[in-house]
Order: sequence, then structure tokens, then C-alpha cells
Amino acid sequence: MKTLIISASQRADSQSSRIAGLLNTRYFNNSADLLDLAAKPLPEWDGTGFDRDDVKAVKARALAADALVLVVPEWNGMAPSAVKNFFLWCGAAELAHKPALLVGVSAGTGGAYVINEMRTSSYKNSRLLYLPEHLLMRDVENLWVNDTPTKSDTYLSERTRYAVNLLEAYAKALAPVRKQALETMGAFTNGMS
Ligand SMILES: Cc1cc2nc3c(=O)[nH]c(=O)nc-3n(C[C@H](O)[C@H](O)[C@H](O)COP(=O)(O)O)c2cc1C
Repeated sequence: MKTLIISASQRADSQSSRIAGLLNTRYFNNSADLLDLAAKPLPEWDGTGFDRDDVKAVKARALAADALVLVVPEWNGMAPSAVKNFFLWCGAAELAHKPALLVGVSAGTGGAYVINEMRTSSYKNSRLLYLPEHLLMRDVENLWVNDTPTKSDTYLSERTRYAVNLLEAYAKALAPVRKQALETMGAFTNGMS
């Protein structure tokens, strides 16, 4: 399975980036493609630049993925604009009916708002399929930082293993669905709203 892990914080040295890297190391044998939006891999969408090489490169990385993991920090109760920008550039051609695991990140006890926001705002035209399972990395600055795992470290490690296993199962099961959907969507290029 080819997995694209997106770190959706546009801040350098973010906790989302740290968690995205750890997910890759611990759960994907470092074989996932890591797209850190803090590196500004995409220009801000303004209706131009469709043939830019950087845009084409990100679209190709999204297209190559069988599954996605979106690591999204909660900022003022919202998802950062960088991840919304990603969904302006990448749509159904790259993402339709691919499974995606949402990972909310919070320095405190938040994170649920961004799960809710992503579930309601980013799938309509892209048809990205968010798993009903998601993860919340709370008190993130103290998560997975010590040699001796805390209770929270262990709980989230086990829960992440469970969720990643499910993501792989969905990716296998959905491959023919994606093929059928792209072949038959015809004029229905956008979801209904
Ligand atoms: C502009 C801004 C707004 C934030 N708002 C929230 C928030 O609403 N809820 C929350 O739990 N954490 C909030 N935080 C703290 C983040 O959870 C914290 O920075 C965490 O490390 C995840 O963000 P990062 O991936 O950019 O590091 C905010 C952080 C920033 C920079």
C-alpha cells in the first residue's frame, strides 16, 4: 500500500510534522510519502498556475497514493488554511474513493473540531473517503517523547496500530470501487450540496 501522510500545519517545526514523521517510522516502515505543508509545496490557489511543476508534482504524489493520513492541528478551533488549499488543488482525479485516516492534533484537550471540520468540508468534490475511525493526539507535546511510555503513549500506540490496520484493509477493498466510480461518474464531477 502506498500511503501519503500529510502534515497539515503550515508552521515550521510543528507538532503535526513530528507526529506525521513518527507515524511513518512506526507504522509504515518509513515507506509512506510525507507531504509537509509547512514546506509550502503548493502555491496559494488563485485560479492560475495549473501547469506549474510544483503543482503537478503534488498532484502526482496524491494520485500515486492508495490511502492517505491527514495529520491536522486545531488552530483557533479550525483546520489550517494550508490543508484547505491542498483540497483546492487536488480533487476527485487524485483522491476519489481513496480511504483517509484523520489525525487531530492539539496541545491541550482539543482536536475534535478539526475532525468534524474535515469530515464536513473536504470530501464533497474530492470524494475522499474518511474512515469512521479517527485519532486524537492530545497534549501532543508530551506524547511519544519519553523512552518509558506513558499510559497515554501506550493507548495511542495501540489505537494507532488498530486504525492503520483498518486503513490498509479499506485501501485493498476500495481499489475496485475507485475504478468503477471514476469510470461511471460521467457528468457527476461534483458532489451534491
Ligand atoms: C494559531 C494557533 C491557534 C491554536 N488554536 C488552538 C485551538 O483552538 N485548540 C487547540 O486545542 N489548540 C490550539 N492551538 C495549539 C495547537 O494545538 C498546538 O500548536 C499543537 O502543537 C498543534 O499545532 P502544530 O501542529 O502547528 O504544532 C493553536 C495553535 C496556534 C499556532
